[in-house]
Amino acid sequence: GYSISATRCKGYMLDENSDILSEAGLLTCLRSRGVNTPLVFFSETDSTNIQAKRIALEGGKHGTAVVANKQTAGRGRLGRSFYSPADTGIYLSVLLSPGGAVPEPQMITVYAAVAAARAIEKVCGVSVGIKWVNDLYLNEKKICGILTEATLSMEGGGIDNIIIGIGINCTGSEDDLPDDIRGKAGFIGKGGYTRNELAAEVIAQIIRYGDCVFPDDVIEEYRNRSILTGRKVNYTKGGAVSTGSVLGISDSGCLIVRSDSGDTDELFSGEVSITQF
Ligand code: BTN
Repeated sequence: GYSISATRCKGYMLDENSDILSEAGLLTCLRSRGVNTPLVFFSETDSTNIQAKRIALEGGKHGTAVVANKQTAGRGRLGRSFYSPADTGIYLSVLLSPGGAVPEPQMITVYAAVAAARAIEKVCGVSVGIKWVNDLYLNEKKICGILTEATLSMEGGGIDNIIIGIGINCTGSEDDLPDDIRGKAGFIGKGGYTRNELAAEVIAQIIRYGDCVFPDDVIEEYRNRSILTGRKVNYTKGGAVSTGSVLGISDSGCLIVRSDSGDTDELFSGEVSITQF
């Protein structure tokens, strides 16, 4: 599938627009980063999170990365679907089985967003913000979504496996987006990087703290990247919709909001919308 141009008496050149996500390409990029984690690659699958969960239940190894070029049943947060067309994005999940107590499980979600942001910045050279809980934004459009799931041990009573699923919109056109995300989703854009490099860097950043014990600078970086701080938002708490101003992010990753009626609310999960960009 690579596009190669030939010039008589000169030779062949790999077209710089060739950006094929492949097992061989991913392995090269992973190994060059010193990451020896097992890799499962699909040119098409239902959902890398579903596949990672299956692999976990079959005894798959800690650190296994599952990457797809297309998902037919990509899953988003809050029961939504995640648009996952072929050739333009990265859909990956990393299976973590830390094998002991996870002291601050909520930090996994926080770190997943920081890890993806660091990787995008390093490989693509663009600076991205985090919209709590863990959507990544570039130029006020969502370019990356993260769905973290876990399996619990009935015997141990704790977390057995963690699946961090990350979907990144690399290239594409606004016109091709489904109606429900048109105007909201965006793309990193072409050039200067390959999806193999970006996927490998995201995996490397996740594996770096695969034991799920995170240094203090993670929450600090999350705060610095937060695009909600100081903004007016609509949010839901206890089933009621309120409006307020975001004061910041707590040490445990909660969103702190001062409601218009003067209360201070700490949100653990859910969805917040900016009243005006
Ligand atoms: C969201 O924005 O609501 C979260 C989207 C998470 C999408 C990724 S793509 C890879 C992994 N597999 C899935 O089915 N979902 C996650």
